[in-house]
Amino acid sequence: MSERFLVTGVLGCLGAWVARAVLADGAEVVGYDLGEDVSRLRLVLGEEADRITVVHGDITDLDALEWTLDEHRITRVVHLAALQVPFVRADPPLGMRVNVAGTVNVLEAVSRRLDRIPGVAYASSTAVYGPSDPSPAPESGGVTPGTLYGVSKLADEGMARVYAADAGLPSIGLRPYIVYGPGRDQGMTSGPTAAMLAAVRDEPYEIGFTGPAQYDYAPDVARAFVTAASSSRPGAAVYNAPGVPATVEDVVAEIRAIVPEAQITWGGDALPFPAELEATGFDRDVGSFPRTPLSVGVAATIAHFRAAG
Ligand SMILES: NC(=O)c1ccc[n+]([C@@H]2O[C@H](COP(=O)([O-])OP(=O)(O)OC[C@H]3O[C@@H](n4cnc5c(N)ncnc54)[C@H](O)[C@@H]3O)[C@@H](O)[C@H]2O)c1
Repeated sequence: MSERFLVTGVLGCLGAWVARAVLADGAEVVGYDLGEDVSRLRLVLGEEADRITVVHGDITDLDALEWTLDEHRITRVVHLAALQVPFVRADPPLGMRVNVAGTVNVLEAVSRRLDRIPGVAYASSTAVYGPSDPSPAPESGGVTPGTLYGVSKLADEGMARVYAADAGLPSIGLRPYIVYGPGRDQGMTSGPTAAMLAAVRDEPYEIGFTGPAQYDYAPDVARAFVTAASSSRPGAAVYNAPGVPATVEDVVAEIRAIVPEAQITWGGDALPFPAELEATGFDRDVGSFPRTPLSVGVAATIAHFRAAG
């Protein structure tokens, strides 16, 4: 019987790419999302989006989550549902409910079903690090996030560690940095992808931050989440994503290599995270983390936007 993946936050950028990777493996996808907007699924999957069952549900509702796991006989879980930095900043109590209480629900629900589901793959974030962490930042993790969003992700990592110790729940957390690619249209670091779309549309765009960071092509991160969800590794592990170190200028140069007339500017502060992250653990412990070069990822994103019209 093929595996049946529950993807929370399936209507988001990474959710859509995880769904695509799961379908490409011949497995089934049940999405779980509070939203209504299926445009990212359509953009990323085209007509294949119709093969996905989307359960309209809130991650903070444990009963609904458990019902979904059982009703659809789920065998793998990728937990991505969360509010990103600007949304947590706009409503901190809601942000912490979704990002912390939502994640404990996933850990609790899966820990009650270890006979059928081997563990949880979930999204942490580079935001667990703060501006004073060294670069490259050690993969053991940050302890002083500068945002409530980062605190919520650090709490998720801590809860996963305790669920491994107390309930024997295996988990793998991934900490993406700047995810880019089709569907990345919201959040503090969505500017580079928005600039690629603006270039295709011949519109001006200003990226709202400067400086060096790491860039993670969304399909690479999605593939790693699918690999992680099928891992039988015991314990609670957390890994950085081995993205491409680049400055905003480097990204704009890659866009202009495809669209020379692109009207892109940039300004503002550098991101409040270390410029580079150590990222060797996933390959060592779990499997191969794909590494699409920036030039290839930017070209593919622009081609995808052009094809989607
Ligand atoms: N995009 C990045 O650069 C990045 C970097 C690091 C970590 N992450 C993490 O990766 C995950 C996915 O990121 P993304 O870019 O796809 O985010 P996204 O904002 O595109 O998608 C998040 C999805 O979660 C859903 N959601 C929000 N609240 C919910 C709730 N209460 N119940 C159910 N669903 C809910 C939203 O409707 C949305 O579809 C998130 O956990 C995010 O924090 C993203």
